[in-house]
Amino acid sequence: MSIPLEAGERILFVDARDRTYLVRLQTKGTFHTHGGALSHDLVIGQPEGVRLETAGGMVLTAFRPRFADYALKMPRGAQVIYPKDLGPILVYTDIYPGASILEAGSGSGALTIALCRAVGPGGRVVSYEVRSEHRERAVANVEGFFGKIPDLLELTARSSTCPSRGTCCRRSARPWSPAGSSVPTCPPRCRSSRSCLLWSRRAFDTSRPSRP
Ligand SMILES: C[S@@+](CC[C@H](N)C(=O)[O-])C[C@H]1O[C@@H](n2cnc3c(N)ncnc32)[C@H](O)[C@@H]1O
Repeated sequence: MSIPLEAGERILFVDARDRTYLVRLQTKGTFHTHGGALSHDLVIGQPEGVRLETAGGMVLTAFRPRFADYALKMPRGAQVIYPKDLGPILVYTDIYPGASILEAGSGSGALTIALCRAVGPGGRVVSYEVRSEHRERAVANVEGFFGKIPDLLELTARSSTCPSRGTCCRRSARPWSPAGSSVPTCPPRCRSSRSCLLWSRRAFDTSRPSRP
């Protein structure tokens, strides 16, 4: 039996045509759709998977959103990295629990969230974003997903010196100086025009000989 759906949490309504709607449940709130209105109070306290009918007879099933649902529905300023690409990025950059990551270009925060989940509480993610409006969006999306900015994450309003000027996800045991003063840079071989995935251990990760 799942934990009942609560006021304040985000849920995903799925209709008969598999269209999805991300909604934050509020006491006395109403969800309006072309198929009529549905009171949030009818959803609050129900188990996940409950099927409800709007005033216009439209059947909706309520679920807690997966990260993939959230990434597709969350507000975006910059182009988001889609779930189909997030998985390969995590695999090909060899992200593991406890890793330290530098992300260049937080954008809307989709990859940032995926990285935080992949490295776990023992890891660290530093994400640079050069545009303040994108950084604010990323902060809001990360908070919206986790409830707060995770302790392991640093969302930084500054420019990375990565020549890709796109999205770069770099795994390193020491992506910043011990004093924390220098700006991390990508190795010279990173020359992608849009996005780069750095997976060569020789190029940037020499201090951690073994991994789980
Ligand atoms: C494609 S978006 C990143 C998508 C993001 N990783 C996501 O999953 O939603 C590229 C982002 O990189 C930022 N950017 C471009 N050049 C940058 C630089 N030199 N330093 C930091 N951020 C940069 C852009 O402002 C933009 O927000």
